Amino acid sequence: MGTDKDTQTRIFKDGTTKKAYLIRKCTFEDLELVKEVNEKELPEDYPFFFYKSILDNYPESFLVAYPKEDSSKIIGYVMWRIERTPSKNSLRLVNKGHLVSIAVSQEYRRLGIASALLSSSMPEIKSHSISEYVLEVRVSNYGAISLYEGFNFKTEGIKKKYYRDGENAYFMVLKIEHD
Ligand SMILES: CC(C)(COP(=O)(O)OP(=O)(O)OC[C@H]1O[C@@H](n2cnc3c(N)ncnc32)[C@H](O)[C@@H]1OP(=O)(O)O)[C@@H](O)C(=O)NCCC(=O)NCCS
Repeated sequence: MGTDKDTQTRIFKDGTTKKAYLIRKCTFEDLELVKEVNEKELPEDYPFFFYKSILDNYPESFLVAYPKEDSSKIIGYVMWRIERTPSKNSLRLVNKGHLVSIAVSQEYRRLGIASALLSSSMPEIKSHSISEYVLEVRVSNYGAISLYEGFNFKTEGIKKKYYRDGENAYFMVLKIEHD
C-alpha cells in the first residue's frame, strides 16, 4: 500500500496554471485504472491477472502517477519484473530488471511524468541485485526511445517482428556499474 513516505509531489506547468501530481506505489484497487491507461495508450494489452501478478511479485517498482487534486484518477504507470538469464560469459544466472510497461495519458505528456516514474522505480528494481536494466521498444516509437536514451539506455540489437502486428523492437540496455 502507498504511504506518505512513498509519495512524491512534482510541480508541472500546463500552459498558464501550475498543477501538482503525485507518484505512489500501485495498489490492487488501482489495477483496473492502470489497465485502462494501458489500453488507451498502447497497442499491447494484458489480462488483469498479469497486472496482478506483477503487483504481487514486484510491488516496490510498480508505481502510478495521479493528479494531486484527484486521487481517483490514474494518469501514468510503470511496472518492472525480474528475469533470470545466463550471463554472457558463463552459465551463471544473473538478474535483469525488465521494463514491462510504461505509459502516460496523452493529455499529461511532456511534463516529466514518465521520467519521474522511471527515476523512482529504477532504484527499487535495482535492489534485486540486477546486472542491467533491459527493455524493448517499437522502432517507430521515437518519443519513448528518446526518453530511454535520456536515461542512458543503449540500443543493443533488434528483435525482428517482436510485436503482434509484425513491427520490430529495439532491445535497449542500461548496464549497472558495480563498485
Ligand atoms: C513514452 C511516454 C511514456 C513518455 O511519457 P512523458 O511523461 O511524456 O515523458 P517525459 O515528459 O518524462 O519526457 C522526458 C523526455 O523524453 C523525451 N520524450 C518524451 N516524449 C517524447 C516525444 N513524443 N518526442 C520526442 N521526445 C520525447 C524528451 O527528451 C523528454 O524531455 P523534454 O520534454 O524535456 O524534451 C509517453 O509518450 C507514452 O505514454 N507513450 C505511449 C506509451 C508508450 O509508448 N510507452 C513506451 C512503450 S516502450
